[in-house]
Amino acid sequence: MYTGLQHLHSGVAYLAILVLILVIFWMLIGSLSGREFTEKDRKFGMIGFIISHIQLLFGLILYFVSPLGFTLLTSGTAMGDPVSRLTALEHPLINIIAIALISVGYIRSKKMTISRARFRIIYMMYAIGLVLILSRIPWASWLG
Ligand code: HEM
Repeated sequence: MYTGLQHLHSGVAYLAILVLILVIFWMLIGSLSGREFTEKDRKFGMIGFIISHIQLLFGLILYFVSPLGFTLLTSGTAMGDPVSRLTALEHPLINIIAIALISVGYIRSKKMTISRARFRIIYMMYAIGLVLILSRIPWASWLG
C-alpha cells in the first residue's frame, strides 16, 4: 500500500503542477484579452481545483502510512534535520495552505460578476498556491 500510494502521489504531482501552470496562463491571457469569463473558463479552473484536492487526499493518507510523515514527526528527531522536517512538517503544512488558497480563488471567482476580476482571482491565488507548492517539494528524493 505504501509504495502504491508513493507512486500515486508522485505521479499526480506532475499532473497537478502541469495543470496549475496551464490554468494560470489561461486565466492570465483571458484577463489580458478583456473577453468574457465563460462556463468553459469556470470548468477549466475547476480542473485545477479538483486535481489539487485529489493530491491533498493522497497526501493526507500517505502522511499516516509513510515513515517520513506523522511517524517521523512524533519520533522527536525530525525538527533537527532539514530533510526530515521537510516531509514531516513543512511539505504537508505549506501544501495544505496552498490548496486552501487555490480553493479560495476558485470559489470566490464563482461568486464574482466582473469577468476580469474572475480571471484575476484565479490566476493570482493559483499562482501563489503553485509558488508555495514548488517551494516545499522534496526535490532531492523526487527527481534525484
Ligand atoms: C499539490 C500538493 C502536493 C504536491 C504537488 C506534492 C508532491 C509531492 C512530491 C513530488 C513528493 C516526493 C515524492 C517522491 O519522492 O517520490 C511528495 C512526498 C510526500 N508528500 Fe506530498 N505533495 C502535495 C501535498 C501533500 C500533502 C497535503 C501532504 C500531507 C498532508 C503530503 C504528504 C507527503 C509525504 C508524507 C511525502 C513523503 C512520502 C514518502 O516518500 O514516504 N503531500 N509530495
